[in-house]
Amino acid sequence: MSSNKVSKSTITDELTQKVISLCQRRAILFPNSDIYGGAAGFFDYGPYGCELKKRIENSWWKTFVQSREDIVGIDGAIITSPRVWVASGHVAAFNDPLVDCLKCKSRHRADTLVEDELKISADGFSLDKLGALIKEHKIVCQKCGGELSVARKFNLMFNTHIGAVQDESSIAYLRPETAQLMFADFRIVQQAMRKKLPFGIAQIGKAFRNEIAPRNFVFRCREFSQMEIEFFIHPKLVNSCPLLTDEVKAKKVQMITAIEQEKGKDGLMETMTIGDALSKHVIKTQWHGYWLITCLEWLYSLGITPANLRLREHVKTELSHYSIETWDIEYKYPWGWKELQGIANRTDFDLTQHQKESGKDLTYFDEENKERVTPHVIEPSIGVDRVFFTVLLDAYRENASDKGSTSTLALHPELAPVQVAIFPLMKKDGLAEKGRAVFEMLRNEFVCEYDESGSIGKRYARQDEVGTPFCITVDYDSLEKGDVTIRERDSGNQKRVPISKLKEVIECAFGEYCALHGGK
Ligand code: GAP
Repeated sequence: MSSNKVSKSTITDELTQKVISLCQRRAILFPNSDIYGGAAGFFDYGPYGCELKKRIENSWWKTFVQSREDIVGIDGAIITSPRVWVASGHVAAFNDPLVDCLKCKSRHRADTLVEDELKISADGFSLDKLGALIKEHKIVCQKCGGELSVARKFNLMFNTHIGAVQDESSIAYLRPETAQLMFADFRIVQQAMRKKLPFGIAQIGKAFRNEIAPRNFVFRCREFSQMEIEFFIHPKLVNSCPLLTDEVKAKKVQMITAIEQEKGKDGLMETMTIGDALSKHVIKTQWHGYWLITCLEWLYSLGITPANLRLREHVKTELSHYSIETWDIEYKYPWGWKELQGIANRTDFDLTQHQKESGKDLTYFDEENKERVTPHVIEPSIGVDRVFFTVLLDAYRENASDKGSTSTLALHPELAPVQVAIFPLMKKDGLAEKGRAVFEMLRNEFVCEYDESGSIGKRYARQDEVGTPFCITVDYDSLEKGDVTIRERDSGNQKRVPISKLKEVIECAFGEYCALHGGK
């Protein structure tokens, strides 16, 4: 079995190494089954990690499902009829380029190998182009220096068998995306929920990809969770979005178009309003424009620095088999601008394919025009684990002092795994009891942690590391005057607050944070 340690050779920058080491030290997120040497590309979330992960999922669900009347949620199975994946094109086309080392037999993903060696972006390069670059630049095996084979396709789906007989007829796949069930279940959900176009079906769930080269921690792993929406639109109204108000159109974004990238190097990034991008036909349809800005705004609401996010259009050779136009929301990672979210125009590709493969009618009856139509789809798709890692990288701060350096996660208070920590100054003289009483009072309102061990400085440092926005210290004055010290994580400011006012003061501070950094 391959080693599960996060390979230092793929992590070249200091920030990423520090965040990974924090994740492991505090058991936030760490390699799976490490005591057995691990399984590369699989990770476990510890107590703080699973709390933060759930908060990201809950924020997404609240924003895109619970707060909207035009999107409903489902929770589908991981293993489905394999015909789903024949219809979707994944059996034939869900491939990455692979090269084998002719000497040590190790396998490499050809495009990332070319990116690593030549320091260029190889997104969308054909097998021929990758093979030619490997030959021209005499690129060899990263492990042993051996000669590499010609590049070929490798299907990323994990397969298994349904039932006791293991032959060709029982093959099934672990889903490589959550998306297909929203298409396969389109009719039953639309009819049962009496939804009229335009409307969406959303899902959060696990996806599995047998990545050739899992790397950069959970940025590219083999088991991950996705949050996806398939937004169904009347085929004649993809360019008519009533939610695209003047206010939305005026929002500015950093973007880089396919044309700019095709001109050479990595292309020029420009700042444009969504309205201009649509009128100049940079973004082709209104609903696509609406979803691009709506998804960006959700990422801002998590506290991610807007300047570190941009839109990048896929060049033609990079488009997935189902898409006529895809934009990625990219984040400026320490290893370069890379995809955080993909937002594709899948047209009627999937519903048409499932109609052909199943023989079932998946059309929609347009009552106004008395005709049956196959809806078109805009698909915002994002990985939970990738958002998680991005949030940590964006929030990581280092504080140097004479005593050495400590770290802080400047997390949005709504995402922080612990929102309020309560410390008694000492365990004796009734302070512990008073501290516990404050803890009991606040724990139904916020996620709280009670900690009575070590110096106050050490306790602050422990909470800063996991991003706790507020720490409360109960001291001798608290026994006499009924007030406590509350310390704010990012500024380090401390003030005295009556215990009876704590809930109000913390709620108000949450509100101020949202007003400053984007609400949730
Ligand atoms: N249904 C469309 C779809 O799956 P994708 O671009 O392949 O599109 C969507 O994946 C998102 O899922 C990505 O933007 C990324 O956030 C996440 N993702 C994809 N592969 C991943 C992997 N191997 N590890 C972690 N996250 C991944």
